[in-house]
Amino acid sequence: MGEKLVEIRDLHIGYRTFEGYTRVLNGVNCYVDKGEKVSIVGETGCGKTTTVKAILKILVRQARIYGGEIFFDGKDVLKMGKAEINLMRGAGISMIFQDPMLALNPVFTVGSQINAVIRYSGEPGAEKKEVQKELAVKALRETSLPDPERILQSYPFQLSGGMRQRICIAMAMATPRKLVIADEPTTNLDVTIQDQVLKILKSRVEEKQSSLILITHSLGVARETADRIYVMYAGTMVETARTGDIFKRQLHPYSQALMSCIPKLSGGGVAEGIPGRIPGYLNPPPGCRFAPRCPRAMEKCRREQPPLVTVDDGHAAACFLYGAGD
Ligand SMILES: Nc1ncnc2c1ncn2[C@@H]1O[C@H](COP(=O)(O)OP(=O)(O)OP(=O)(O)O)[C@@H](O)[C@H]1O
Ligand code: SF4
Ligand SMILES: [Mg+2]
Repeated sequence: MGEKLVEIRDLHIGYRTFEGYTRVLNGVNCYVDKGEKVSIVGETGCGKTTTVKAILKILVRQARIYGGEIFFDGKDVLKMGKAEINLMRGAGISMIFQDPMLALNPVFTVGSQINAVIRYSGEPGAEKKEVQKELAVKALRETSLPDPERILQSYPFQLSGGMRQRICIAMAMATPRKLVIADEPTTNLDVTIQDQVLKILKSRVEEKQSSLILITHSLGVARETADRIYVMYAGTMVETARTGDIFKRQLHPYSQALMSCIPKLSGGGVAEGIPGRIPGYLNPPPGCRFAPRCPRAMEKCRREQPPLVTVDDGHAAACFLYGAGD
C-alpha cells in the first residue's frame, strides 16, 4: 500500500435550500495514494463534485459541512488557515472543470490566464514574465497544442472546444502539482476528441508523478484512465477496487447494476432491471440509501447504514451482504 495523499473520513455535507437543509454526502470515506490515479464513478447528482470541491474548500456558501475530516498531504484541510489554503490551491492541487468555457475567462487572453496560474504556483522565478511565458509555452507543447505562441495571444472563443479543454489541462499541469482533479473533463467534447484529451491527461499526470482524481459517468473512461475506482451512490462510496478487479467482479448491487448498463449511465436511470432513482436529499431513507431499489434488500438495510468494509485484498464494499452484518 502506498502513502496517502488525500484521505476523506466520514464526510457529511448538505446544502441550504428553500425547502430546508439537505443531506447529500452521507459519510464519504475514500483516499488517494501518492502517484495513484483514482476515478469516482456515479450517476448524476450522487455527490461527486461536492466531494472534490470539499477537498479544495471551494464549496458554495449554501453548503454545510455536518461532520468529517479531509486530509491533504497529512494536513487537516478543514482546519487550515487562509495562507495554507492558498498554498494548497496554488502549489498542491489543480482542478480541471467540466466546462472549459466556464473555466476560462472570456475577456482575457489564454496567455494572461496561464501566466496568472503560474505566478501563484510558488515555483522559483514564477513572478518573472519570462519564466511564465517559458512555462506556458512548454505546457501547451506538452498537451500537443500546435503553435503555442499564437494560442497564448488568443481569446478562448477563438479556439475549439477540444483546444480549450487541452488548454485547461496545460494550465493545470504547467507547474508541478501533487494532485490533479479532473471533473468530467471530456463530457462536452466530441467522442473522437474525448479519447485524445484523456490520453493527454493521463500521460501528463504519469510523467509528473502527480496523483489524479478523475470524475466520470463513464465506466469506460474510468477503465482507460484509473488504477482504482470508487463507485459512488447517493452520497456514499459504495465500492472500491483496483480497476481490473472491479471489472472482473462487482460486490455491491448498485455496481452490478452500473456494469450491466454502461451506455445508459448518463441518462439518469441506472439499469433497466432496477426501477427508481436516487433518493431525494431532504429526507433520504435511513439505513442503506440504495435499499428502496435494491433487489436484495433485507430488513436491516432499511434501519442501518452499512459501513465500507474490505472484503478482499483492496476490494471493499458498503453492503450488508458482505461481512458487515450480524
Ligand atoms: N448549490 C447547491 N445548492 C443546493 N443543492 C446543491 C447545490 N450544489 C449541488 N447540490 C445538490 O447536491 C447533490 C449532489 O450534487 P453534485 O454536483 O455533487 O453531484 P454530481 O455527482 O457531481 O452530479 P453530476 O454528475 O450531475 O455533476 C445534487 O442533488 C445537487 O442538486
Ligand atoms: S446493504 Fe442491503 S439494501 Fe444496501 S446494497 Fe446491500 S443488500 Fe442492498
Ligand atoms: Mg458534478
